Amino acid sequence: MEDKIHKYIDDINNIIISNNEEAADFYKKYLSKKGLVNQLFQDFKNLTIEKKKECGPVLNKLKKTAIEKANIFKNKKSISTEEDAIDFTLPSGYSSPGSAHPLSKVQSRIINIFERVGFNLSSGPEIEDDWHNFSALNMPKHHPARDMQDTFFISIDPDTLLRTHTSSVQIRYMETAPPPIRIISPGRVYRKEDISARAHCLFHQIEGLYIDKGVAFSDLKTMVIYFLKSLFGDSVQTRFRPSFFPFTEPSAEVDIYWGLKTEADYRITKGTGWLEIMGCGMIDPNVLKNVNIDHKEYSGFAFGLGIERIAMLLYQVDDLRLFFENDIRFLKQFQGAK
Ligand code: DAH
Repeated sequence: MEDKIHKYIDDINNIIISNNEEAADFYKKYLSKKGLVNQLFQDFKNLTIEKKKECGPVLNKLKKTAIEKANIFKNKKSISTEEDAIDFTLPSGYSSPGSAHPLSKVQSRIINIFERVGFNLSSGPEIEDDWHNFSALNMPKHHPARDMQDTFFISIDPDTLLRTHTSSVQIRYMETAPPPIRIISPGRVYRKEDISARAHCLFHQIEGLYIDKGVAFSDLKTMVIYFLKSLFGDSVQTRFRPSFFPFTEPSAEVDIYWGLKTEADYRITKGTGWLEIMGCGMIDPNVLKNVNIDHKEYSGFAFGLGIERIAMLLYQVDDLRLFFENDIRFLKQFQGAK
């Protein structure tokens, strides 16, 4: 019997199964209930103990060989059928890598411009207290300038609010670090505005603060012009208009001439071609006093600008709300943008 089994093993090894029919025949002949392997196991029962010892391992080998042969065809079959086949040489399907939000892009560009001339990033909380958002910035309670910024107060606590500008970070920074100071702080700010194409209750600002000995208004002007030329190109036209902010004296607002090339330009600049880009000024001595910086030894300037406005102009978006809706069709347009 042993020799017979060896012969079957050889036979199986020599068989090549190449289609379903042959596979079915093979299975029927060797592995089915009435197949050869089962029959041999039946015969095996009647052997003497010595014979069983000899034949047992060979019989098991036969069964294993038959099963393996059947499986090889099964595996071959599954990779060769058309629907399961994987062609590794085909190009992969397109998947979009996504891209930064247009506001993030503009923010990074602005940060980059200031970092090049030694400004460091600094941030502060969006939930602020009265001191950092108003009082320390020379806006005592009941000061009329508070009306410039309709405020979201948290619950009924009159001391806790959503910051109305990033100027609060100036105070936080000056309280903890001695001059010289050179920081920019980007972030979200909140105001109780009706939402429209030009206004939103949430927007983004970047604040700048520069304090050292002997800083003059000419330094502020140089810095602002450097910034605007870096962002809009060397030929940008700028103008400084006198203005008022409680935390700076003197104060100015800066406009750039963008022109009226498109309909969006008309809408964004209200038909003038000019757009107000930022507020700025020399830090009011009262502010320095509030944070215990000697205003006789140090002086400085500060500026604040809205990111959305600049993004609207650069990307020709004439409705501010689009930046906050996160409509994928809108965002996709900025994939290749600077
Ligand atoms: N905080 C002002 C605003 O939200 C903007 C501003 C104006 C910031 C003048 C400044 C500044 O630092 O000096 O309208």
